[in-house]
Amino acid sequence: MSSSDPRATGADEQATGMRRGLVNYGDAGFSLFLRKAFIKGSGLTDHALDRPVIGIADTASGYNPCHGNMPQLIEAVQRGVMLAGGLPVKFPTISIGESFAQPTSMYLRNLMSMDTEEMLRAQPMDAVVLIGGCDKTVPAQLMGAASAGIPAIQLITGSMLTGSHRGQVVGACTDCRRFWAQFRADAIDAQEIADVNNQLVASVGTCSVMGTASTMACIAEALGMTVPGGASPPAVTSARMRVAEETGAVAVQMAKSRLTIDRILTEKAFENAMRVLLAIGGSTNAIVHLTAIAGRMGLEVDLKALDRMGRETPVLVDLKPSGQHYMEHFDAAGGMATLLRELKPLLHLDALTVTGRTLGEELERAAPPFPQDVIRPRDNPIYPQGGIAVLEGNLAPGGAIIKQSAADPKLMEHEGRAVVFEGLQDLADRIDRDDLDVSADDILVLKNIGPKGAPGMPEAGYIPLPRKLARQGVKDMVRISDGRMSGTAFGTIVLHVTPESAIGGPLAHVRNGDRIRLSVERRELNLLVSDAELARRAQEQPVTPPTAERGYRKLFLTTVTQADRGVDFDFLAAPEVRGRIPKA
Ligand code: FES
Ligand code: MG
Repeated sequence: MSSSDPRATGADEQATGMRRGLVNYGDAGFSLFLRKAFIKGSGLTDHALDRPVIGIADTASGYNPCHGNMPQLIEAVQRGVMLAGGLPVKFPTISIGESFAQPTSMYLRNLMSMDTEEMLRAQPMDAVVLIGGCDKTVPAQLMGAASAGIPAIQLITGSMLTGSHRGQVVGACTDCRRFWAQFRADAIDAQEIADVNNQLVASVGTCSVMGTASTMACIAEALGMTVPGGASPPAVTSARMRVAEETGAVAVQMAKSRLTIDRILTEKAFENAMRVLLAIGGSTNAIVHLTAIAGRMGLEVDLKALDRMGRETPVLVDLKPSGQHYMEHFDAAGGMATLLRELKPLLHLDALTVTGRTLGEELERAAPPFPQDVIRPRDNPIYPQGGIAVLEGNLAPGGAIIKQSAADPKLMEHEGRAVVFEGLQDLADRIDRDDLDVSADDILVLKNIGPKGAPGMPEAGYIPLPRKLARQGVKDMVRISDGRMSGTAFGTIVLHVTPESAIGGPLAHVRNGDRIRLSVERRELNLLVSDAELARRAQEQPVTPPTAERGYRKLFLTTVTQADRGVDFDFLAAPEVRGRIPKA
């Protein structure tokens, strides 16, 4: 039967193009006949339809300037697909722009993952190019593709360019926070804050520091899900467009060889990604995202093992917020190849990548090293241990984390008095009051910003310093919450306290004046209140978890898991746990 024979059923494993996956009606021949008729409505010929079909997930949105180069990227991917003998077919999915999504972009990540998964299942395609960049989009796409199971490759939109403010290099969004903190402390005036506002986002593309977007870009490459060097070229460069073209071509190879995602997203790949997360001083959010992606593959993240891995993985990348530079400098320093070469003894070099070659083979092919000062050698790290430490104790029986590389070393062993805020509104109402009873040695505690609390686990864990202390020159305090923190933020900030306060975790029962002890060295977070007293408080003021009447919010509140399970919906994770990562 010739490939354009309308009776072709697609039952053949090697089948590509519109034939694959078309046996879903009783009469497979008729089904194919119909679909061909309809797609020919776009002007396509039989000849075009015989090629492998490469879906391209288009996540352009006027609300997402981080994806503002989407038209050019799609054009380059299409070119790559066609040069390699495939047929590109773009389709839209939800886009999530970090700065505009309410109540928080995280509330929508699982929705985007469901959209992505179901569109990959519903539409005939032999492989898919996922184009994402802004914080939640890459995790959502990887989660969806992991569940859909077809050959998939990630294309990153790329970072924005840095700006220049009165002679200083600036970029979103570590500098957004730094300048705003100075403005709150009356250290800079209204004119200056307006001027810097024009420079913080100098082009389309994702935040230019090692925030969540850059972290997930590096992680996607470390997982083997991008072409080599795909993590770092800035959004507006010709290098980014060449990455896009190459991505299209590789997608065709993957379609032809049926290189499905389960062969790439293995235990080894996740361990490599964790190593990279620690070595880049990456965003704490990435732990939640990696946990969710792994959960789709039936793998559970062991936070204690991750912490052990952290103790032997130095931070090597000198990017804000842990260091000095920006993503464009990381790219100029050779990007991921330079980093991975440095991490070689700690990596599984036999992990497979989208190219069909292993990570080790790709490193052999990468450009040779050269002198640079953005990615340090292992014997001269930015920070001797991994960026993220996992804490435990009676305040966080299910764990909590701290980004130690962005914290004040003087506060990492600290005992203080709790100053408690019951939620975001309470915080907004009182944090700047002159009569707030607070001093620099106190510990700020914010409740009800966990997965169910806000809901969606917003990035409100970066609790602002009380204005009266900021004016006195206080730069950092210990802050604790069940929420997340932007990857671009810095400070001695304990996050992801599990279980969260909204479902009655111990955090719910902390009161003003309680003593709390943080020891990053011992990995402990303890409330110095007896179990009996906590039980008494729980009885006196029982917690009612939040509910919703209808819609997505109801789905969210009834099925969302805690941080230690990736804040995914319980029904989206793989039904069976096959293993635990990291094994380290
Ligand atoms: Fe999109 Fe920062 S707002 S990456
Ligand atoms: Mg962010």
